[in-house]
Amino acid sequence: MKSYNIAIIPGDGVGGEITKEAVKIMDAVADKYGFSVASEHFDWGCDYYLKHGMMMPDNMLDTLTNFDAIFLGCIGDASKVPDHISISLILTIRKGFDQYINLRPIILYPGVETPIRTATPATVDMVVIRENTEGEYSGIGGFFKAGAPDAFALQTGVFTHKGCERVIRYAFELARKRNKLGNTQPAGMVTNCTKSNALNYSMVFWDSVYQEVAQANPDIKTDTAMVDATTMWFIKNPEHFDVVVASNLFGDIITDLGAMLQGGMGFAAGGNINPETKYPSMFEPIHGSAPKYAGKAVINPIATIESIRMMWEHLGEEGASRDIQDAVAKVLASGQVRTRDMGGTYKTHEVGDAIKEAILR
Ligand code: IPM
Ligand code: MG
Repeated sequence: MKSYNIAIIPGDGVGGEITKEAVKIMDAVADKYGFSVASEHFDWGCDYYLKHGMMMPDNMLDTLTNFDAIFLGCIGDASKVPDHISISLILTIRKGFDQYINLRPIILYPGVETPIRTATPATVDMVVIRENTEGEYSGIGGFFKAGAPDAFALQTGVFTHKGCERVIRYAFELARKRNKLGNTQPAGMVTNCTKSNALNYSMVFWDSVYQEVAQANPDIKTDTAMVDATTMWFIKNPEHFDVVVASNLFGDIITDLGAMLQGGMGFAAGGNINPETKYPSMFEPIHGSAPKYAGKAVINPIATIESIRMMWEHLGEEGASRDIQDAVAKVLASGQVRTRDMGGTYKTHEVGDAIKEAILR
């Protein structure tokens, strides 16, 4: 029997309750497809910090490195630990395991409402590929002359040729794969999300690497939009987009907007991928930990369940992944099983139960 070792980090706030739904769906498809899952839970996060003075142990990466994949709930509770400290947990894993692809599919399921009028299931079908290990998130800089009237801070973006090339190449390869799968909307196009008009070193460099990769992949259409214009086009013409490649910060920003095209943060999932599979990849809903909703069972578990779907796809269990997607689509299309964010009264675990039943039926 095939067996997978999955590391589970529920994290803070609503992390515990969404993790239960992740495990529920993970186990459901394992039963159905006859593989086994051995999961181990780790209690790292803000409460761990209050006890130990750190978000996670120093040997976290050693502990995680032999797992097949990681599920991360959500991290952060500013009433306990400042956000720029708590997120070190996420960034340490992304960088330490060279998860240089942040894969963020943006799809709108039938039956889901969004406040954006142009967004329909027919117009919203794109993937944002966000660079995930360098760029604006390199963490290099400093505070100077603290407290003095001329105090200042420096924050340096790092754009290496290797770092830009590999993420842009991944985007072109994904565009080709989506086209093969019959996605013709539009056929195989990679939009370069940039800001080279103003960022005259980093983004000019990024653009030049995009051009190199584009020349090596002439079958894929090229397209360029400044990041500010990208946000405008996402709203005005979401159907224009296929694969969008963006630096770390730009990708972060445009995927929150992308989440609204999907119906809200409750639907947006992401994979932090090390394509070489030298290290485990990590899957997470991209919403925050919403401490004020913790324990109320009002959180939409779809983003979490979608991240589990992405995990199985990454691990090569395509049947399991497709089943989860079909079940999510079926439950959402029924129009009844809705959490509070969708105007319904279903609890987090009731939505998970409905999706589990649809998988097993
Ligand atoms: C995301 C989040 C994170 C990010 C935060 C929690 C560090 O916003 O995954 O999009 O900025 O990458
Ligand atoms: Mg974000």
